[in-house]
Amino acid sequence: MKITQIHLVRRPAASPRPDDFDIVTAALPSLRPGQVLIENLYMSVDPYMRRSMEAEAKDLEPWPIGGALNGPCVGRVLDSRNPGFKEGDIVESMSGWQSHFVSDGDAFLPYLTPDNALARRTVGSGIEPQDYLGLFGIAAMTGYVGVVRSGKLEPGKTLVVSSAAGTVGSVACQVGKIKGMRVVASAGSDDKINWLLHSARADRAFNYKTVPLADGLKEACPHGIDLVLENASPEHLEACLPLMNERGAIMIAGFVSIYTTGGRASPVRNLEYVLDKYLTLKAFPFMDYLDSYEEFVGNMSAWRSEGKLVFPQIIHDGLDQAPRAFCSLFSGDSFGKNLVRIAI
Ligand SMILES: NC(=O)c1ccc[n+]([C@@H]2O[C@H](COP(=O)([O-])OP(=O)(O)OC[C@H]3O[C@@H](n4cnc5c(N)ncnc54)[C@H](OP(=O)(O)O)[C@@H]3O)[C@@H](O)[C@H]2O)c1
Repeated sequence: MKITQIHLVRRPAASPRPDDFDIVTAALPSLRPGQVLIENLYMSVDPYMRRSMEAEAKDLEPWPIGGALNGPCVGRVLDSRNPGFKEGDIVESMSGWQSHFVSDGDAFLPYLTPDNALARRTVGSGIEPQDYLGLFGIAAMTGYVGVVRSGKLEPGKTLVVSSAAGTVGSVACQVGKIKGMRVVASAGSDDKINWLLHSARADRAFNYKTVPLADGLKEACPHGIDLVLENASPEHLEACLPLMNERGAIMIAGFVSIYTTGGRASPVRNLEYVLDKYLTLKAFPFMDYLDSYEEFVGNMSAWRSEGKLVFPQIIHDGLDQAPRAFCSLFSGDSFGKNLVRIAI
């Protein structure tokens, strides 16, 4: 059987470009006993994938030049020689960036299991296959646990969120509001700021490309900051530190700005505030909170149906659009969750 895959043709030095990728045809072997054939329906593009483009990708396996890539996706079982799966089942895996793949049917845990491991997912009653990459996906879960499991979730306290119109950020802002926090958001365009104020219901929001970070934060946080969900940059963290209230916390989901600098972060020059204010500074992988997965899915689903949470999403049509969708994460053109529809 012939399938379509996206391959990497070179490792970029800074921001990725669509022509760093190529679309190729590959052959798929026939199924052996125990195996499952999957047609991918949707795949996710995420900033962390920029690290997989490096020859040394730290905790990730580097993507090969001229071979299959990986990433979160949902698909439909087309054929099964495994008693655990039947034709038509919807499954989540890490075998994205391709139209089809063969799985050995191992149990799926994102990042911790082989790329072709599978989790069966339930759809219907308003839940679509792509929700498992979006509303219930890795980045949304990171925004949820970053607030709910921070130990600093308290009504009336001030939550600051950077890259707030992205997936992690948009969820963190809205979870904060649902839980009664005062939410201050920053993002890189006036359209994103409008969305944060009027749809995500942030109390204050500013465009960090037109307002200096220190000024925007100081003006928006007259009572100081109790909790930060950091997605953007060391510069944003540095601007938050002088405004932190005693025993506040900074939950670092990531620094999207350093993916294009080979992972090197510029120095944070005022760490004395961590000591002086007894702050908690914590980087957290979402995998540490997999025990919250069912609670997270239940809450996100209920909040969406009740109209308490909106989930911004851009769907890019066709596997050939995946490189462009991925590159939009680094140019600021992306908004909310970016998914690629591979098949209907
Ligand atoms: N800890 C975990 O387990 C975990 C899991 C998932 C994601 N993450 C991390 O969480 C962060 C957010 O992830 P996400 O999926 O929601 O991505 P995202 O925020 O949607 O990322 C894309 C956005 O990042 C912003 N951006 C791009 N380059 C930037 C730069 N140089 N400086 C500041 N902002 C920049 C842009 O928005 P603007 O227009 O606002 O600039 C862009 O639209 C990332 O650092 C990601 O690696 C961590």
